[in-house]
Amino acid sequence: MLKNDIHHAVEILRRGGLVAFPTETVYGLGADASNPEAVDKIFQAKNRPRNHPLIVHIGSREDLFAWSSSVPPMALLLAEAFWPGPLTLILKKAPHVSLGVTGGQNTIGLRMPNHPVALELLREFGSGIAGPSANRFQRISPTSREAVIEELENAIDLVLEGGDCQVGVESTIVDVSTKIPVILRPGIITADEISEVLGMPLGDKKINSPKVSGSHRVHYAPKTKTIVMSRAEMENGLVAEKKTALLLLSALNVENASVFMMPNNAKAYAKVLYHTLRDVDKKGFEQIVIESLPLNSEWEAVRDRVGRAGVCC
Ligand code: TXA
Ligand code: MG
Repeated sequence: MLKNDIHHAVEILRRGGLVAFPTETVYGLGADASNPEAVDKIFQAKNRPRNHPLIVHIGSREDLFAWSSSVPPMALLLAEAFWPGPLTLILKKAPHVSLGVTGGQNTIGLRMPNHPVALELLREFGSGIAGPSANRFQRISPTSREAVIEELENAIDLVLEGGDCQVGVESTIVDVSTKIPVILRPGIITADEISEVLGMPLGDKKINSPKVSGSHRVHYAPKTKTIVMSRAEMENGLVAEKKTALLLLSALNVENASVFMMPNNAKAYAKVLYHTLRDVDKKGFEQIVIESLPLNSEWEAVRDRVGRAGVCC
């Protein structure tokens, strides 16, 4: 059988199985969003608490109306500007959407991904595919087919091939279910870009906002102890006498450490971050030290993920 037999993938989804699929952000673990038993298999496979809602992937902007009971003009503007693409919209759910998908909430996360394999799968399946990142709970999201197999091989019926993910970190999540839109998770599409399309400032994330698994303090974490450190701290010899992997933005000579040079550009950094962490994690280092990142807004998503991978300074 071909790796990418879309008909076979659709057959598996129709009978309630799990198909991992590539997107431009990270690989997703897909199930038929209208089949509660299939959706439950996702939670089992990932060992994810059932109150953490799943994103439903859709194949067209018009599908917004099939999954949400109330699509405000803001949602249409954002879908028009950024879909297909790395943006998830939180909206009021349609009555038929099961609480299993939404983690018990009356809202739903919807995204039209920008990857030819995902779009073909959605088109052939003809309905929504629930899909969290295809990793075990609190681990690094997979950005290649091999990484999905490493994470979840025994729990999945089929893993589609789509090459390395071009974005490399998860989608920006914006809640448009209330009057003032709020970013719940930063991504490569920035708050400024969203605010510009909407022509209004965004609200602050509420303290009691819904459970968002990506908002856990420890998330996207390697197994090796990971620390974020400023360049000044590194230069002052704060890298301890341990066998260390250093992820740097520019060269620095540190005794005992193996240096991994990272791109000095936020988008390029995002693309290789998870792959690098996964790779370094296998090399038997006692600690990973990541150089702290620039503070400007284009780096926000990467800063967020790096901060959650380790103990931030
Ligand atoms: O880029 C992505 O978003 C990837 C790809 C596969 O599409 N998916 C992804 O899914 O990152 P997951 O489950 O790992 O993260 C989805 C996030 C979770 O933090 C979840 O809590 C949040 O979306 N979410 C989903 N529905 C929500 C809702 N109704 N209200 C608030 N947050 C929601
Ligand atoms: Mg995830």
